[in-house]
Amino acid sequence: MIPDKTLVGKDVYHAAPEVVEGAHVPNFQKYKELYSQSTEKPEEFWGNIAKEFYWKTPRTGKFLDYNFDHTKGKIFIRWMEGATTNICYNLLDRNVHEKNLGDKVAYYWEGNDPEDCMQVTYKELLQQVCKFANVLRAQGVKKGDRISIYMPMIIELVVVMLACVRIGAIHSIVFAGFSADSLCERILDSHCSLLITADGFYRGDKPINLKQIADEAIRKCRERNFSVGKCIVVKHLGVTEATGATDETCTDRASSNTQSPPAKRSCYNLQTTWNADVDIWWHDLMKEASDKCEPEWCDSEDPLFILYTSGSTGKPKGVQHTVGGYLLYTATTFKYVFDYKPDDVYWCTADIGWITGHSYLAYGPLANGATSVMFEGIPTYPNVSRFWEIIDKYKVTTFYTAPTAIRLLMKYGEDPVKKFSRASLKILGTVGEPINPEAWLWYYNVVGNRKCPIMDTFWQTETGGHMMTPLPAAIPLKPGSATFPFFGVVPAILNESGEELEGEAEGYLVFKKPWPSIMRTIYGNYQRFESTYFKKFAGYFVTGDGCKRDKDGYYWITGRIDDMLNVSGHLLSTAEVESALIEHAAVAEAATVSHPHAIKGECLYCFVTLRDGYEFNETLIAELKDQVREKIGPIATPDYIQNAPGLPKTRSGKIMRRILRQIARNEKDLGDTSTLADGTVIEELFNNRCRTA
Ligand code: PRX
Repeated sequence: MIPDKTLVGKDVYHAAPEVVEGAHVPNFQKYKELYSQSTEKPEEFWGNIAKEFYWKTPRTGKFLDYNFDHTKGKIFIRWMEGATTNICYNLLDRNVHEKNLGDKVAYYWEGNDPEDCMQVTYKELLQQVCKFANVLRAQGVKKGDRISIYMPMIIELVVVMLACVRIGAIHSIVFAGFSADSLCERILDSHCSLLITADGFYRGDKPINLKQIADEAIRKCRERNFSVGKCIVVKHLGVTEATGATDETCTDRASSNTQSPPAKRSCYNLQTTWNADVDIWWHDLMKEASDKCEPEWCDSEDPLFILYTSGSTGKPKGVQHTVGGYLLYTATTFKYVFDYKPDDVYWCTADIGWITGHSYLAYGPLANGATSVMFEGIPTYPNVSRFWEIIDKYKVTTFYTAPTAIRLLMKYGEDPVKKFSRASLKILGTVGEPINPEAWLWYYNVVGNRKCPIMDTFWQTETGGHMMTPLPAAIPLKPGSATFPFFGVVPAILNESGEELEGEAEGYLVFKKPWPSIMRTIYGNYQRFESTYFKKFAGYFVTGDGCKRDKDGYYWITGRIDDMLNVSGHLLSTAEVESALIEHAAVAEAATVSHPHAIKGECLYCFVTLRDGYEFNETLIAELKDQVREKIGPIATPDYIQNAPGLPKTRSGKIMRRILRQIARNEKDLGDTSTLADGTVIEELFNNRCRTA
């Protein structure tokens, strides 16, 4: 790529000839043409893409029907209503039987330990999925039932999600870093009839006893009068029931039934408690299951999955996606944004427990018949070269990761990267948070050897797929900008009064028209869906992010403008953290704000007002951190907790977080404080500040 300083006084990076050659969208002109078609004639544009997939019956309603304006009636979005299909069929059967990809590797699985690896082909994946779909049916699972999945990054996780899809059940995957409380809350919210988990896993050198956390969640559900029928447990670490004895061979894994080289498994001694009324081993159920399973044909608008994301009120939102639109959009974005070619080896480092893993480790790549790497481990174990080693091992062409991982690895300098050639790399991507230009340039210069364009993809759990993103050959890059809208996406920038701003502008990022994978509701709470995304500005989907447009029309995401914060690319709500803190007996009141962090992007800075009789000391700080970790999970652990005998509030009692943010940053000029009810608290808050990095 060739930096060009002439456009806006900042470097602009143009694609090198080898990136342009054979690209699906070779230049900006072609992007504009396709973009115009996609927004002016969405039916035709998406209709042509839909023809690439299998539909059991054609649609009966309009291709697209929607209302984005709550003043005109109920909000709704429907794509291809009445058409029936099955995503699992499209991802697996179609690739095996129609595209002749049965022997192609679907996943190279790389375990936490480098010697722990295996591969699974499309044919093998189909067999495993059919078997587990039959297991689910035998357990009484029917179309529309919700299934909770709490698993590490192992192939069985993909098997479970696609087995649900095959029989029309709705998966609700809970990231394996969440706590028992968080899992319990999510099980209860969507009334999941079954839980699927694993005995445990290693995160670097730290063992995680997943089964124990799952047991705790089941117990908590029972306390709240909800019974999770059964808990199916994958033996991943190889501990036999009740005794805690290590199973030396670990041969009963799903994948070892396949024709791939037998999986090499690490076996560790991790105690698993067993409740015979509820728990069933995965391998016991799979042994007898048939590998033939007729798919359930679902309506394009039937629910596909629920995925919980933080909400500004503190209660997580069960974002619900549907069958047809999600299939079209994840398949199409994957193809164009990563300029996918059949020989590519693609690696998305995200956990399947997040939307990035759903859309771009499972659905998008499989819909294209792609070969992916699935990685169980972390970037720093056993050493900080792990990513680059894996890239060379599998000859990865397309690498998609988070800015926080890049910033973390940057700290160790260039040597750990340069130990490996990375010669196979063609395209790089980032997701989850704004990428600072310094990290962008390191990724570009060091990791990509100045030849790989970086796709900075802006999107959300709610959008299901990429919204603002470059395309490798077509869109010149500016470090830190997610550049332009993807096909079918119509963004606008609004001011506080809801007026659309033209040209160079900054304001609320909204979308004016539906794209196929827009969420359809919040599970069990349609009203919250309408009010969160459509009420503030009638006629628009509100992202909750701020955005700038520069004079060349490039979009720059400036971050959340609601009470959410983004820690290592994971959204958290300040309210959720505060309510976890308040549950501690010592805390009368709590307020949380975001604080800049060199690696995580943002971290949590919490202010607590104590009840009479409690002392603020190191023990209490440790207890409060534990409390948040236990209630939400390790990702939500506060970096700083400050004693706040008083909090800055408006006369109506609303906490002024803007002021708290400034105190945390030691910014003495607080600007307008006229709405502050009691100014005397400020000095004390400055005096009590935590020493921040
Ligand atoms: O604030 C934006 C930020 O992440 C939020 C969405 O978080 P979540 O639903 O967890 O999904 C993350 C993975 C898609 C957004 O509202 N965000 C995501 N990608 C970017 C980003 N901010 C800036 N640039 C991005 N590329």
